Amino acid sequence: TTEQTPIIAIDGPAGSGKSSVSKEVARRRGYGYLDTGAGYRALSWHLRSAGVDSADADAVIAALGGFELRLGLEPDDRTVTVGGTDVTAAIRTPEVTAAIAGFVRVPEVRAYLNAIYRRLAGESGLPGVVMEGRDITSVVAPDAPVRILMTASPEVRAARRGLELGADTATVAAAINARDESDSHVLDLAQADPGVDVVDSTDLDFEQSIDAVTTVIDSKLGGR
Ligand code: DC
Repeated sequence: TTEQTPIIAIDGPAGSGKSSVSKEVARRRGYGYLDTGAGYRALSWHLRSAGVDSADADAVIAALGGFELRLGLEPDDRTVTVGGTDVTAAIRTPEVTAAIAGFVRVPEVRAYLNAIYRRLAGESGLPGVVMEGRDITSVVAPDAPVRILMTASPEVRAARRGLELGADTATVAAAINARDESDSHVLDLAQADPGVDVVDSTDLDFEQSIDAVTTVIDSKLGGR
């Protein structure tokens, strides 16, 4: 029998610090890093470029047939391609981000992407894969040996995003609220599964957040 690659499942809302922390933890431990949001973003980009209305569920499902997504597991190479086109930067625009809400609830879309994520981790041959998103601990990898929910106060999340985006706090706070609203069906911040470890990074800096996540991983994986 082959050793299964352990998945480190990390969920959290926008601005919780989960992306930068997940990436750095993967780097330090020699694990893969899988940004599941990038798949949703890439599909949104694909629909726009194909002229498909992202809110038309039947058309979106039909478009999955021509959606050739390539997503790597290397923490330092975040390249995403769709049908051979490098969309790494294009999937981060506000237009692409906003259009995700149109199809994000479609079960066929979620099942399609989840199958890709599970396969990427399972076939990686790596000693571990940090998989980051909204529904990893609950749906994509509910049996993962490590399941973490990263949170932070809305104020801190808005401030962090503001630093990243260079916008004023009110604009960023509005964007954060809109994302929480559209994400609420996949990530219930008020109700993590009993087996999920919560890391609240409100009062933690980057290094302390990494320590907190690493402590959980070590306690769950033990000598593995
Ligand atoms: O993590 P991100 O900001 O790149 O995610 C973009 C959008 O994709 C997010 O608003 C909701 C969706 N998403 C999801 O529904 N499930 C995931 N596991 C990851 C992202």
